Amino acid sequence: MAKRKPTRFLKEEYKQIQKEGREWVHRKLETPSVPNVIVEGKELLMLCSNNYLNLSNHPHLRKRAIEAVEKYGAGSGSVRAIAGNMVIHEEWEQKHAEFKEQEAAIVFMSGFIANEGAIPPLVRRDDFIISDELNHGSIIDGVRLTKAKRSIYKHNDMGELEARLKEAEKEDPNCEKRILVLTDGVFSMDGDMSLLDEIQKLCQEYGAMIFVDDAHGDGVLGRDKKGKGIVDHFGLQGKVQVEMNTYSKAMGVVGGSITGSKDLINFLRNTARSYLLSGSPPPAIAGAAIGSLEVLNPNSEYFEPVVAKLLDNCEYFKKEIVNIGFSHPITAAAAKCPTAIVPVICGENETAKKMSDRLMEEGIFALPIMFPMVPRGTSRIRVMMNTGLTKEHLDLSLGKFEDIGRELKIF
Ligand SMILES: Cc1ncc(COP(=O)(O)O)c(C=O)c1O
Repeated sequence: MAKRKPTRFLKEEYKQIQKEGREWVHRKLETPSVPNVIVEGKELLMLCSNNYLNLSNHPHLRKRAIEAVEKYGAGSGSVRAIAGNMVIHEEWEQKHAEFKEQEAAIVFMSGFIANEGAIPPLVRRDDFIISDELNHGSIIDGVRLTKAKRSIYKHNDMGELEARLKEAEKEDPNCEKRILVLTDGVFSMDGDMSLLDEIQKLCQEYGAMIFVDDAHGDGVLGRDKKGKGIVDHFGLQGKVQVEMNTYSKAMGVVGGSITGSKDLINFLRNTARSYLLSGSPPPAIAGAAIGSLEVLNPNSEYFEPVVAKLLDNCEYFKKEIVNIGFSHPITAAAAKCPTAIVPVICGENETAKKMSDRLMEEGIFALPIMFPMVPRGTSRIRVMMNTGLTKEHLDLSLGKFEDIGRELKIF
């Protein structure tokens, strides 16, 4: 018998995770993801879903999903490049590109998979990747799959970004290598925005490509409350080479996308391994995703002003949460951004955990984000705003935050 115990580590490491309070306890939803949700038998007000525009249970999206299943079936049967390219996939991509006001789009099964698939082919061995320190894990994993030289710049620090660009230029005076700058559009833990306009200027100066992951800006940011995302917010269409989006958040479905030039999309269709080697999205997903674009399209008969309502809720909740006393600089900075993420800083892990437990007892579903996911001392409740929340919902939850915040001596 071999001395080695092939799977003993599983139980041991899981126990350690539990001991350190790092276990993700999975709560069971008994209803669709809506503002008044039932979780394990208890009616709660949902404040932690990414379903910002309240579209996941929208009748139009449900209808589109059902129609797609009736027409195309439950599955696609193959990868896109072999036999899994359905009319509905191309329609989704075309509508997505139109929404983004870009030349072309490619869809993936999720945003995570889009990042993992699209980043590696853009750089070769010894090209340069320069990445914001707070970028999402899926960007980090995408970068890990490359053989490029990697460097990190301090969050949103344009001086450091320029220094990294200068270093790359110095190493490559003949401009033979590629430089890829990666940033989230909206940072998922802090709810602040990237300085995409400044990043774009710097990248233009140094001949670098920009890749922006707009998972949390899509359906939220953008001019005239149209929710077209951070690129539109800064009016940078055509100047940001690679834009990544997800349908798992504001759009209420699931799926990732990359938009940009036709050249970019043709290139990725033939090089992104997570696209080429993975089954294409089931028709229901494509149908529902198209439905979400229709709800957001002012020229469509299904249009609803869901973005405007979301932005009103964000502004109100963020202003009031700071007024109540949650005035930590991270919370205050997020309050200045028109994003749907509200990091309510509580301090140490125990305080954030207690805050979440007490909120749950009081009928609010809002989970803690703790060290090591965020820096020590900034453990928080990450509130996610939603179009479907009424003023009464917001006031009720603000009242609970205030009472429990005092109880736990956060302010
Ligand atoms: C910034 C960011 N990028 C990418 C993703 C992954 O998106 P998806 O849920 O579509 O896989 C997330 C999801 O948490 C995210 O927050």
